[in-house]
Amino acid sequence: MSELTDKLKKEIESARISTREELEHFRLTYLSKKGHVSALLSKIGSVAAEERKIFGQKVNAVKQLAHTKLKEAEQRLHSTKKSTAKATDDITLPASPLPLGVAHPLSQTLRQIKDVFYRLGFSIADGPEVEDDFHNFTALNFPPEHPARDMQDTFFIRKTEDADTDDLVLRTHTSPVQIRLMKNGTPPFRSIMPGRVYRNESITAKSYCLFHQVEGLYVDKKVSLAELKDTLIMFVEMIYGEDVRYRIRPSFFPFTEPSLEMDIWWGDESSGKWLEILGAGMVHPNVLQAVGIDSEEYSGFAFGMGVERIAMLKYGIDDIRLLYDNDLRFLQQFQ
Ligand code: DAH
Repeated sequence: MSELTDKLKKEIESARISTREELEHFRLTYLSKKGHVSALLSKIGSVAAEERKIFGQKVNAVKQLAHTKLKEAEQRLHSTKKSTAKATDDITLPASPLPLGVAHPLSQTLRQIKDVFYRLGFSIADGPEVEDDFHNFTALNFPPEHPARDMQDTFFIRKTEDADTDDLVLRTHTSPVQIRLMKNGTPPFRSIMPGRVYRNESITAKSYCLFHQVEGLYVDKKVSLAELKDTLIMFVEMIYGEDVRYRIRPSFFPFTEPSLEMDIWWGDESSGKWLEILGAGMVHPNVLQAVGIDSEEYSGFAFGMGVERIAMLKYGIDDIRLLYDNDLRFLQQFQ
């Protein structure tokens, strides 16, 4: 019986394993279920009792030998595979590109808007997203209980009946930042105030519960409506190009008098329509008075634009929700 183990031992010792195929062949021949080692193992039971112990030890030694040889060959082949791969690498090739993110279309639009007003001499200011009723409404000439407050569906953070405490709201527009700016400084003011605003509206292709506005304020001696018009026209021409089709029409806001809105033509001649991108007007004397500015000496204009609207018109996006889904297939189109 021990001739069998000796013979197998020799065979295993002299087996050549220098390729992956030979490695697999070795494994199948000696160590698989139907291999030679298993065949010997299954013979142990039929060996005469006196010889069984010795035979069993020999078979196990052969099995161990086969395993060791397989392991060694595996390691050897693995490391040669690596080093040949290295030798064939062309280190002069450019590296594979790393996928780069892109700025969100809203960030890109906001950057362009800031750039336009920076060139026109406007600085940037900001204010809190949780506002009190005074800044969001009262100082902007919304009388208490006035229906104009219903124009803006407000998310209330704190609602109170106590006359000495103010309601707290998520700001419904960036106009309260005008009030903070004017209260804390002295004219002239020439700033834009970008930021996020919130409205308790149902979510549709055209409206979302939060969006972005850029507020603008210019207060100085003798600021005129003509300057406001010029600024707005310059703005749309710089954003959309000189052949942009726009119109300016009268409107109403409690904090401006007169008030106006600006629309941009969306679509082609026959099937297109006018879309509003901003509200504006001459700052109402009551607003100047609320922040302690003499409305006889100073005048000013203000505007508030919707960043989502401007982006949707610029890039042809027809559903505002796309701007908030963070779907990479959508975002990657804005390289
Ligand atoms: N706050 C207005 C809104 O959210 C937009 C607006 C209109 C802002 C006229 C202004 C303005 O500063 O003068 O609908």
